[in-house]
Amino acid sequence: MAKHVGVSPQTITRLEKGVGTVSTLVAVMDSTNFMLTGLSAGKTLFEKLRNTRIKHGKSLENLVRRTGLSHTAILDLENGAGSVEDLLRLLAALAPRARRQAPARAYWALGQKEDRDSRFTPPDFMDNIYKAFGEIDLDPCAHELSPVLARRKILASRGGDGLSQTWSGRLAFVNPPYSCALQWLRRAHEQWSAGHVATVVCLVPVRTDSAFFHEVLSLDADIFFLKGRVKFLKPDGAAQQTPFSLMVLTLGANAEQRARFAQLAAGFWSRRRQPNDTDL
Ligand SMILES: C[S@@+](CC[C@H](N)C(=O)[O-])C[C@H]1O[C@@H](n2cnc3c(N)ncnc32)[C@H](O)[C@@H]1O
Repeated sequence: MAKHVGVSPQTITRLEKGVGTVSTLVAVMDSTNFMLTGLSAGKTLFEKLRNTRIKHGKSLENLVRRTGLSHTAILDLENGAGSVEDLLRLLAALAPRARRQAPARAYWALGQKEDRDSRFTPPDFMDNIYKAFGEIDLDPCAHELSPVLARRKILASRGGDGLSQTWSGRLAFVNPPYSCALQWLRRAHEQWSAGHVATVVCLVPVRTDSAFFHEVLSLDADIFFLKGRVKFLKPDGAAQQTPFSLMVLTLGANAEQRARFAQLAAGFWSRRRQPNDTDL
């Protein structure tokens, strides 16, 4: 760690005891991907501190009184200088609930693959889907315990296979196993292109690095980036928040359906790529 950050091992040991400069602390935070949540938005920790103070309408005088720090010490912290000790005092007064942000992962936590893939879309999220897009004809990757309401459910537990059986109906809702989400997106696109379903609504992690995403989905799909995270249901009924970002990707949804969804859910639709768009 010391080598990585470019300081002595003693500096790291002191930091672990709460002694040191904020600039070293930030270098360590950067190198360990340690992010704080519970502060206002900002590009740096210092900007976040300043924005939090402004958002909560706290004057410097007020903070001087509450923290026992001087004006200069507070301004130093808002400008990227100062000591860890002062930072901790400021945080205790300004954002007592600030804590480590759960590291973003592309997958559920470790565990059996099948267990990790058994996460069910919660009823409140589904209500927005029904209201915006209508009743669901097909869930091609359903589960007996899932609250998703669909006329036809393909259940792997009963020998069904949504990756080989033909899809059908007006609307399919697809919250697939995230360990192979790309395979399901390919399948959705293939079944939609073949005209087996008129509209497909997929709830998938925001993974946009595949050639398929860039060359096919970016042209054919509409994408809604969800703000915040979804609390899925585990087979035991407990809720579990996704440790990664999600998007709703639709094929064949009309403008009215998309507008309705945007009124119900937090997030935004991205502009669909056009065939003659050039990369900037
Ligand atoms: C993330 S869960 C979602 C369940 C449900 N669609 C929902 O939204 O609540 C994905 C489900 O896909 C099922 N599954 C996995 N492979 C499948 C396949 N080839 N055909 C049908 N279902 C499959 C798993 O059993 C798992 O329960």
